Amino acid sequence: MVDLIPEKLPKHVAIIMDGNGRWAKQRAMNRIRGHEEGAESVREIVRATRQIGIPWLTLYAFSEENWKRPRYEIGALMKLLKRFLKAELNEMMENGIKFQAIGRIYKLPRDVQEVLQETVKKTSPNRETVLTLALSYGGRQEMMDAMRAIAQKIEKGDVTSRDITEELIAENLYTAGMPDPDLLIRTSGECRVSNFFLWQMAYTEIYMTPTLWPDFRREEYFKALEEYERRERRFGATGDQVADAKSRWDL
Ligand code: FPP
Repeated sequence: MVDLIPEKLPKHVAIIMDGNGRWAKQRAMNRIRGHEEGAESVREIVRATRQIGIPWLTLYAFSEENWKRPRYEIGALMKLLKRFLKAELNEMMENGIKFQAIGRIYKLPRDVQEVLQETVKKTSPNRETVLTLALSYGGRQEMMDAMRAIAQKIEKGDVTSRDITEELIAENLYTAGMPDPDLLIRTSGECRVSNFFLWQMAYTEIYMTPTLWPDFRREEYFKALEEYERRERRFGATGDQVADAKSRWDL
């Protein structure tokens, strides 16, 4: 068991869950079995996040690019998502987990949208950990949608081009009101950001592991958090400046 230091934990963890297909292939199973086992990892990681008191967890569950996958796989993923949300509702309520979804949700099948809406509504009073699923999500598409929203405000005369600041852009992203992720975890050994949180990850620490998502459970998660706690985040300042600021503020 690893020792985590509560004050040093990230406030927002984002995860690119990758490797379900390879996990299944290694076992001569079909890809859907990999996704099912991946859903078990989701369950365990959400539970662990709540238990250790991390307030924000975002999981990249279905990208805009994932629409290119075979129809049967998309169908199975949608079914699995619905099943997961229904099965987990009680636990989310008991543990104060607030659920939300970001992305082009209107592109998802209507029945999935309905379960999403219901889960968002029921869990909305919860205050412990916010679980966000990125669904039909793409970082470039998110920026495009934000630019369109800002352009419309300019056209209406609500703002001018001089009002465009980092804050205004952030307020028009799907993640409005959420802190930027402190830690990004990507499983399965791929070293890409795959169109995820392109704006939000400016200063995010990245942790990559060869472990495939269905095998990424509590112990692996704690290893990632422990590694994060060892990193020094400088946000563009020098190491000396960070140490100096710490000695002034941590007294
Ligand atoms: C990547 O594995 C994973 C996905 C495209 C979907 C993520 C879905 C889950 C973890 C399961 C269900 C989710 C929830 C929220 C219940 P891959 O298929 O790209 O794996 P590969 O690269 O090895 O083929």
